[in-house]
Amino acid sequence: MKRVGFVGWRGMVGSVLMQRMLEEGDFDHIAEPVFFTTSQAGAAGPNIGKDIPALKDARNIDDLKQMDAIISCQGGDYTTEVYGKLRESGWQGYWIDAASTLRMQDDSIIILDPVNRQVIDQGLAKGIKTYVGGNCTVSLMLMGLGGLFRENLVEWISSMTYQAASGAGAQNMRELISQMGQIEAGVQSELADPASAILEIDRKVAETMRGDTFKTDHFGVPLAGSLIPWIDKAVEAGQSKEEWKGFVETNKILGLSDAPIAIDGTCVRIGAMRCHSQAFTIKLKKDVPLDEIESIIASANDWVKVIPNEREITMRELTPTKVTGTLSIPVGRLRKMKMGPDFLNAFSVGDQLLWGAAEPLRRMLRILLQ
Ligand code: HSE
Repeated sequence: MKRVGFVGWRGMVGSVLMQRMLEEGDFDHIAEPVFFTTSQAGAAGPNIGKDIPALKDARNIDDLKQMDAIISCQGGDYTTEVYGKLRESGWQGYWIDAASTLRMQDDSIIILDPVNRQVIDQGLAKGIKTYVGGNCTVSLMLMGLGGLFRENLVEWISSMTYQAASGAGAQNMRELISQMGQIEAGVQSELADPASAILEIDRKVAETMRGDTFKTDHFGVPLAGSLIPWIDKAVEAGQSKEEWKGFVETNKILGLSDAPIAIDGTCVRIGAMRCHSQAFTIKLKKDVPLDEIESIIASANDWVKVIPNEREITMRELTPTKVTGTLSIPVGRLRKMKMGPDFLNAFSVGDQLLWGAAEPLRRMLRILLQ
């Protein structure tokens, strides 16, 4: 494979992808990287330590057709606009995508190779050419709990999520910080005075958050100092689309769509920047001792890390603050629940821009480049 095209490399997920590819020396393995743009064709491409041609038009099917593989972080609208035309033109190359558009198609594979390398290899052997990154909460859950699935221990899972602003987009991250700033600015003098009444501060904070000038263009409502218990649009039976994905994508990734494992829960946006956290209630198929469960979880891949269920280390290690910007997937709060010895409690954290978005794409490209 010689020519690899990159689309959407300047956006948030694309930038994380570029950064990771540079860190891992991935461009050394690509004979001809070609960068595409939807707005600046002809301009110079990014500095990746080797000569590359000027930017090409990301809507030019003839140019795209020259690629052996294309990796897109441009978003679902772009995929919808271009993918069909490109395939109809007879293009047989590999399409690797961060967007959800093609995820559930029969002729695509959802990629998370530390968990489903076997499904990916079978797809490659069958000649499947479309490989799509999974929903971030799904990928992060599977990176954390992959061992339990591998050992066929999971009867069902209820997952309650605490999802970061980045999952909604770069502008939403900015808005979260602006909201935090507005809240603080509204009570600065009271905060500086240790004798001021906390209930007066609280009243003013609520007034600011409910006020007309509070910045909510992107979230629609306050997130800082609050939360939003709905992510994405409504689908069926009262589920949000984010909740629906938990079931369908997990089972597709694991190759279990014919005999799926029930997965459901409530997806909630909270005021973290880029780490999604999840609290799990896991119904095991049998009573397995906790130390065995810990070894099974810890042995699943190189990034998952079991955090002992103790207060100090949990507060230090099992948080978005600790994990942000890293590939680490800590899993903690592991304990049997009051409901019975086959009910397991767990909590995990993961960076949704890394394992939740860019990293599975980068690794798929490396698989193709082998
Ligand atoms: N849908 C996710 C979220 C982001 O809104 O947090 C990426 O899968």
